Amino acid sequence: MSGRLSGKIAVVTGAANGIGAGCADVFAQEGATVIGIDRGDCDLTDEAATDAFFAQICDGHGRIDILVNAAAFAVFEWIETLSYADWQRTLTGELDIVFLPTRAAWPYLKASGRASVINFASANAYHALEGSAALAHCAGKGGVLAMTRQLAMEGAPHGIRANTISPGFIVTAATQRHMDAVPGFADRVLAKNMVKRLGAPQDIAWCATWLASDEAGYVTGADIRVDAGATAW
Ligand SMILES: NC(=O)c1ccc[n+]([C@@H]2O[C@H](COP(=O)([O-])OP(=O)(O)OC[C@H]3O[C@@H](n4cnc5c(N)ncnc54)[C@H](O)[C@@H]3O)[C@@H](O)[C@H]2O)c1
Repeated sequence: MSGRLSGKIAVVTGAANGIGAGCADVFAQEGATVIGIDRGDCDLTDEAATDAFFAQICDGHGRIDILVNAAAFAVFEWIETLSYADWQRTLTGELDIVFLPTRAAWPYLKASGRASVINFASANAYHALEGSAALAHCAGKGGVLAMTRQLAMEGAPHGIRANTISPGFIVTAATQRHMDAVPGFADRVLAKNMVKRLGAPQDIAWCATWLASDEAGYVTGADIRVDAGATAW
């Protein structure tokens, strides 16, 4: 099959929903062999399970060319009602869930010699959105930005590139529920968007496709904001 990712082995976490599902679909269309991981396969915040799962899925292929860390979870609460347990849970769901799969994949990414790691920060790493109780989420996403630059530096000698995408608001099953629960939320998003529509997972997947491809061979340590211009004012 010919395509921009032809011949590449891609692992996509969080592949059952939203942006991960969008990336898995477009990568497959573009010729990659896609291994999707989600909760039913492995709890990616469990160190031993994650190490064992990557060994199991990757030993046959011997390498990973693309790792997309789209799995995440967060608790959204205002500072006065955010418990310490939920703060910690959110940092696990934003940071550990990127660290553990990336560390487990690292030997296979090295074996590729031309690998691409794609992590997700957020417009929330740059601006506060009125009506969004995103304190712990913002802290996690700032961490993803910083850790990905470090991964770029550590990966470069091994031919591993690492970049983040910072999505603006993207409609998924989870964010649709949030929009339904918070009247006026979509209008606040649209007020910040220069492109006056809400985003879809494919809007992010096409950027991920480019970062994953050899077309982006000179791109590492970068963050690409795919946010309808929301953070560019
Ligand atoms: N959707 C948006 O508006 C938006 C905006 C900015 C950033 N992001 C970021 O983009 C990434 C993808 O977001 P999304 O909206 O597609 O998320 P989502 O909630 O739609 O999907 C996340 C997936 O991760 C899986 N997952 C969660 N915990 C897991 C675990 N412990 N083990 C295995 N799988 C687990 C879930 O089951 C789910 O399928 C996340 O990092 C998110 O923070 C999303």
